Amino acid sequence: MAFSALLALVALAATVRAAPSHTAVCPDGSRVGNAACCKFIPLAKDLQETVFQNDCGEDTHEAVRLIFHDAVSISKKLGPSAGGGADGSMLLFPTVEPNFPANNGIDDSVNNLIPFLTSHPEVGAADLVQFAGAVALSNCPGAPQLEFMAGRRNAKAPAIIGLIPEPQDNVTSILERFADAGDFTPFEVVSLLASHSIARADKVDETIDAAPFDSTPFDFDTQVFLEVLLKGTGFPGLNNNTGEVMSPLPHGSGNDTGELRLQSDFVLARDPRTACFWQGFVDQQEFMAKSFKAAMAKLAILGSKRSELIDCSDVVPPTVRTPVRRASFPATKSVKDLELTCKQRFPTLTTDRGAQQTLIPHCSNGGQDCPAVQFNGPA
Ligand code: HEM
Ligand SMILES: *[C@@H]1O[C@H](CO)[C@@H](O)[C@H](O)[C@H]1NC(C)=O
Ligand SMILES: *[C@@H]1O[C@H](CO)[C@@H](O)[C@H](O)[C@H]1NC(C)=O
Ligand SMILES: *[C@@H]1O[C@H](CO)[C@@H](O)[C@H](O)[C@H]1NC(C)=O
Repeated sequence: MAFSALLALVALAATVRAAPSHTAVCPDGSRVGNAACCKFIPLAKDLQETVFQNDCGEDTHEAVRLIFHDAVSISKKLGPSAGGGADGSMLLFPTVEPNFPANNGIDDSVNNLIPFLTSHPEVGAADLVQFAGAVALSNCPGAPQLEFMAGRRNAKAPAIIGLIPEPQDNVTSILERFADAGDFTPFEVVSLLASHSIARADKVDETIDAAPFDSTPFDFDTQVFLEVLLKGTGFPGLNNNTGEVMSPLPHGSGNDTGELRLQSDFVLARDPRTACFWQGFVDQQEFMAKSFKAAMAKLAILGSKRSELIDCSDVVPPTVRTPVRRASFPATKSVKDLELTCKQRFPTLTTDRGAQQTLIPHCSNGGQDCPAVQFNGPA
């Protein structure tokens, strides 16, 4: 054999060894890196058909929030008895944790996922929470395809109260909580808050429904990082809620609720420890998505050792390919409305046309009727 041919053969053998992916064929014909990942393929399909409906709407948003509230309940300072991290404790003890004040509203997602413990008994509660959130996020234009590691141990006990950050918390306590939960840096904390790009509050102000945190709650875009930097002008509902400050787009009509701003987002956007990270995501879609994905990969495995889990990222559905718009000042706003504390250059952005604040649509299709799926359950 010619030397070059031998070399080619050696190179080929190396490639085969270096690429452990696509080594198993699942019952549906999909090829995956590890046969243990096959069981998540029908689960993804079922979650989409039964709950998320391929929409970046309410049920999807709630499942992404649940990722966080299950996972962050762990503490290095307090030890394992305080909570197991991403351990499914929300689903396994649905009458305990969901009742904590910081979890107000989480019952919807908990009740929506509990039926899958019975319909897909081969998947544990801890994996179900994280996988469901990853499937949900795939419905949001602009979102990264999350990593998914499988094989978490299920909780044996619920987490204690007090481990979930609240919007009235100050920056020091938020950063300390994230550091104590999983060594998150201030940059990673800000990265995780890209999630508030697809978020609406029902409980901060109980008098209004689905108050969005930015003007594009159905797109995972950088708009939230821009809009939280604008000067607040009013409240979408009552003006005396804990953890809420004035938003720049408070005007609403009917089901189209005005924008609501969390105090925590407000202070993180302006504090010297985090302001430049916050501002640095404005109009930086790829950088934001990549940074969020990296921080989520840490969050999703809190309580487990990465080396003990199986990488099943190849069963996370690819994100919907609808493009997202670049960041722009909402109608009537401009660079004059920015409240910047970070000294770095601010990107040049256009302003949307309009003489008045544009209403933020209630549904992802622009309409009014977007019924959410809601199963009854113990939470
Ligand atoms: C400083 C940390 C955080 C605080 C104080 C906070 C607080 C809140 C609050 C108060 C709500 C509104 C709940 C309601 O009234 O219905 C909310 C919604 C939400 N949060 Fe956070 N959050 C934080 C971090 C995170 C992280 C790290 C994630 C995910 C990775 C996340 C994902 C979400 C999502 C997706 C929603 C929207 C839920 C929906 O629309 O139904 N949050 N957050
Ligand atoms: C932040 O909040 C914590 C907990 O409530 C409190 O002990 C601390 O004094 C606060 N720090 C600042 C700087 O306000
Ligand atoms: C805010 O004000 C309203 C109306 O005056 C009152 O009913 C409500 O209890 C107050 N809420 C809080 C959180 O103080
Ligand atoms: C609000 O939404 C509901 C359905 O979710 C619909 O029946 C109602 O007509 C809407 N209200 C307005 C003012 O459009």
